[in-house]
Amino acid sequence: MKSKHLISILDLSLEDIVEIYAVTMDLKSKQKQGVQYTPLVGKTLAMIFSKPSTRTRVSFEVGIYQLGGLGLFLSGQDMQLRRGETIGDTAKTLSRYVNGIMIRTFSHKDVEDLAKYGSVPVINGLTDLEHPCQALADIFTVIEHKCRANTLKNKIAELKNLKFVYVGDGNNVAHSLMLLAAKLSMNITVITPSGYEPDKPIVRHAQDISKGTGASVTISGNIEDIKDADVIYTDVWASMGKDAEKEQRMSIFKPYQINAAAMSKAKPDCIVMHCLPAHRGEEITNEVVDSKNSVVFDEAENRLHVQKAIMIFLMK
Ligand code: CP
Ligand code: NVA
Repeated sequence: MKSKHLISILDLSLEDIVEIYAVTMDLKSKQKQGVQYTPLVGKTLAMIFSKPSTRTRVSFEVGIYQLGGLGLFLSGQDMQLRRGETIGDTAKTLSRYVNGIMIRTFSHKDVEDLAKYGSVPVINGLTDLEHPCQALADIFTVIEHKCRANTLKNKIAELKNLKFVYVGDGNNVAHSLMLLAAKLSMNITVITPSGYEPDKPIVRHAQDISKGTGASVTISGNIEDIKDADVIYTDVWASMGKDAEKEQRMSIFKPYQINAAAMSKAKPDCIVMHCLPAHRGEEITNEVVDSKNSVVFDEAENRLHVQKAIMIFLMK
């Protein structure tokens, strides 16, 4: 059964994820061959941004255009939301105009409410709790770089042979990666300083899912657990909205920097991932982010292809 929204990775079944990835592969190959494909002609996507964005905004706007539709950029600052109009009234109004709503904001509940009161699909473009489009593009990138089987199903089956290590803040990106890894039977280790672990309910949820899929979700405070990683992933130490804590976080997170010393503990062909924007010299050094192991721009590109598949999945 198709889910109507993509607010959390939990909205997707394994079959949904496989379908999205199959369509992503097809869309990416069509684009590389210069083949136009416009299944969303006449469809419109409202894109609400209450936080800054480069990748999410451009990839959604270009993506809906390439599929034949129109994206409307709506700055949260310029909407009546800022002057107190409710999420419910906003949802009901936008649902009369557009075929889908993508939103980047602080409160995860606001996104759930948008879906509750509106009548069109809602896509989470990042909240304080999750970043599902990012995680879907990330694991698609892992499949491209690390899984050699001939079919998508077999490539996905290969994911379980990898050691995926997330290092840094237990944030929105870590949450969506953990949930997706659990669904895809992967082995994920999340290494954070004490006090910055991922949310307990999300950890429990991911570990519950793992029991059924054979995945493993490990939370650690020890950077040595990076040993033999096939994939190392990091993100900023202070997410949007946490800027006031930045100074204090710098010294706490310093031992968790992805630098040459950290990389030497991983497998030689370990790939390095980052959702971007990177704070070079903080969570990751220039030499690592610019190294041959780094796939950060493939990851950024895949936001476009995966999100086009998500829009077809939800809006066609
Ligand atoms: N990774 C990501 O979501 O980037 P932006 O903040 O630029 O959209
Ligand atoms: N965790 C980061 C991701 C940015 C794409 C943030 O929320 O700011």
